[in-house]
Amino acid sequence: MTYGNGLFDLTGRSALVTGAAGGIGAAVARALAAAGAPVLVTDVDPAAAAAVAERITADGGKADGVALDVRDRDAAGEAAARAAALSDGRLHVLVNNAGVTAPAMFADIDEDSFQKVLDIHLLGAFHCTQAALPYLATDGTGRIINVTSAAGLTGTLGQVNYSAAKAGVIGMTKSLARELARRKILVNALAPLAATPMTQTIRTDEKFSQQMLARIPLRRWAEPEEVAGAFVFLASDAASYVTGQVLAVDGGLVM
Ligand SMILES: NC(=O)c1ccc[n+]([C@@H]2O[C@H](COP(=O)([O-])OP(=O)(O)OC[C@H]3O[C@@H](n4cnc5c(N)ncnc54)[C@H](O)[C@@H]3O)[C@@H](O)[C@H]2O)c1
Repeated sequence: MTYGNGLFDLTGRSALVTGAAGGIGAAVARALAAAGAPVLVTDVDPAAAAAVAERITADGGKADGVALDVRDRDAAGEAAARAAALSDGRLHVLVNNAGVTAPAMFADIDEDSFQKVLDIHLLGAFHCTQAALPYLATDGTGRIINVTSAAGLTGTLGQVNYSAAKAGVIGMTKSLARELARRKILVNALAPLAATPMTQTIRTDEKFSQQMLARIPLRRWAEPEEVAGAFVFLASDAASYVTGQVLAVDGGLVM
């Protein structure tokens, strides 16, 4: 155990971030790299993943960018091996962040769109976590950070599919935290709120935006960089006694 700035130091600890070309994923990849982690930046959009990795490298960090559709079990296995190869053959931090929304009122949700949202959030996290498990460090530095949402905690109008997936992610997080404790792997979930492409519609629609801001005690949206530090915390020695938790980084929306 180190203290001072070393408490958050991730030097040499490899990380794999899914959906890492997006608003939050890219900020998390950059923050983990800034803390010293070699990062495998993965996304369904390979060019965008490569661009995030290039920026990290240009900033003095270590990163590679690869294609990973989290619904593809074989690709998840290849990505886990590649991420582990960035350090000593072990993977230290897996961030299951990839996600989409498909808003619709319940009566209008068709089975395909319901299934797609479940597949990307829940089955995707299942694939990536099973793929990562053989490589995850068992010396107390192994971490799984699942990205959930206020929708999974409190429900959201017009997002039954997304809320069901994100609540499922919380259940998976808690059960895995119990199972993997014996391997000293810590499993937590983080519920962020940030200005990203995913939240663009709600932020730019005047009525939705006013309603939403009225529910956020801090009365503003965070930039993705503002939520990324909490991921570094959960990945670091500073969180060595934290497992099975849902950390909301959302301006007080859920409390
Ligand atoms: N932005 C918010 O306020 C907010 C709130 C709660 C939860 N979240 C969650 O945070 C995570 C990141 O969201 P964001 O706001 O950065 O969204 P975003 O749309 O900016 O990024 C999502 C990323 O996921 C990628 N992706 C989509 N489908 C994929 C797939 N099948 N495989 C791999 N990658 C895929 C996209 O290409 C994109 O780069 C998501 O899990 C989202 O549900 C976001």
